Amino acid sequence: MGYNKYTESTQVCEKNLRSPIVRDMALSRIMAYSQLRRLWMKAALIYSYGSPDVLELHSEVKIPEPQANEVLIRVRAAGINPVDCKLRKGAFKLFTGFMFPKILGFDVAGEVVGIGNRVSHFRIGDAVMGLLQSFNQGSYAQFTVAKQNILVQKPKNLSFEESAAVPLAGLTAFQALSKGGIENGMRVLILGGAGGVGSFAVQIAKTYDCTVTASAGPNNQLFLRELGADFTFDYTCQTVADLDGKFDIVVDAVGRSSFAACRPILTSRGSYITTLPTWTNAGSLLFSPLRAQAAKVFLTRSSHRDLQILKKLIEKGRIRPIIDRNYSLEQIREAHLYVQAEHVRGKTVITMPD
Ligand SMILES: NC(=O)c1ccc[n+]([C@@H]2O[C@H](COP(=O)([O-])OP(=O)(O)OC[C@H]3O[C@@H](n4cnc5c(N)ncnc54)[C@H](OP(=O)(O)O)[C@@H]3O)[C@@H](O)[C@H]2O)c1
Repeated sequence: MGYNKYTESTQVCEKNLRSPIVRDMALSRIMAYSQLRRLWMKAALIYSYGSPDVLELHSEVKIPEPQANEVLIRVRAAGINPVDCKLRKGAFKLFTGFMFPKILGFDVAGEVVGIGNRVSHFRIGDAVMGLLQSFNQGSYAQFTVAKQNILVQKPKNLSFEESAAVPLAGLTAFQALSKGGIENGMRVLILGGAGGVGSFAVQIAKTYDCTVTASAGPNNQLFLRELGADFTFDYTCQTVADLDGKFDIVVDAVGRSSFAACRPILTSRGSYITTLPTWTNAGSLLFSPLRAQAAKVFLTRSSHRDLQILKKLIEKGRIRPIIDRNYSLEQIREAHLYVQAEHVRGKTVITMPD
C-alpha cells in the first residue's frame, strides 16, 4: 500500500539529518508523518438525501488512505457549489447511489500531507487546489484524497479560501467558452454573470478581448461592471430579445433561457452553451449538429491542463475568484441554505477547522 511505503521513506529520512536541506525535508516529512498518525478527523456527513438538515458534523471520522497514485490532502478550505445542494437533495441518486455516509464537496484547497508510492508530481507540504471526482469522499472534511492528475499547485497570490473558489466554477466557465470556440474580439453574452460560473466567464471572456454583455438582478449590475462586463442587463425587467446586435457565443450559466429564445441574437454560426440541460432545450440540443447555429450542453471535466491555464491567468492578475460568503464547517447547513437560494455573488466557501 502506498501509505506504508511513505512511512518507510520517512524513517529513512529521519536517519540522515546532516545537511540543512535534508534536515528541512526530513522535518517537513516528520510533521506530515505525525499528521498521518491521527486516525480521526472532523467532517460533515450525510446519511440520507434531503434538506440541509441531513448534513451532520462528526468529529470521529476515519481519515482516508491515499491509493498509489493519490495524495492525502489536509483540507484548508472547500468551495460550495449548487451541484452539492442538488446532490444532497438526491437529484442524481441514480448516479450517486445509496452508499452512506457520504462526504460532499468537489472543490478543495489544502496541503499535501501524504503521498502514494506512484505520486511523482507532488511533495509533502505542497499547497494544492483541485476538483475532486468522488460522490462519497469529498472536501467537507479535514482530510481528503485526490488523484495527482486532478490537482495543481495553489496560485501563489491566492489564499486557501480563494483557491477553493476556483476549480468547479472556473473550469466550467473556461470549458463552456472553449466549447463555444471563443476567439479574440468576439461578442459574448453571459446569462447569470454574477454567480460562480458567470463571474469567471465574464473575466475569462475579457482576457480574449471580447465585448461582453452579462445579465444579473438589479443589485448586481455594478458588480458585473467591476468584473469587466462592457454591457449589462437586468433579467428582472429585460429579456434577451431586448438586446441589440448579434452574439458569437451565449453562455447560459443559470439555465433560465433557451436556444430558441437566443437564436435571433446569435450570429449565423453562433453557439448557445448551457450548463443545465432543460426540457425546453432538449430538442435543440439533440438536433444541433444539423444547424449552422449550435446548441450545446456539457459536463465540466476535472482537467489538470485547464486548471493550470486558470492558475496562470490568476497569477498574472487577469482573473480572480470573488468570495461572497465564508462559513465555518460548523455552519455547513447555513452555507447550503444560502447557496441553494441561487443568489450568491461569486462564490461561497468554508474554512476547515485545524
Ligand atoms: N454542467 C455542469 O457541469 C455544471 C457545472 C457547474 C455548474 N453548473 C450549474 O450551473 C448553474 C450555475 O452555477 P453557479 O455556480 O454559477 O451558480 P450560482 O453561483 O449559485 O449562481 C447564482 C447567481 O445566479 C444569478 N441568477 C439567478 N437567477 C438568474 C436569472 N434568471 N438570470 C440571470 N442570473 C440569475 C444570481 O444573480 P442575482 O442574485 O443578481 O439574481 C446569482 O449571482 C447551477 O445550476 C449549477 O448546478 C453545471
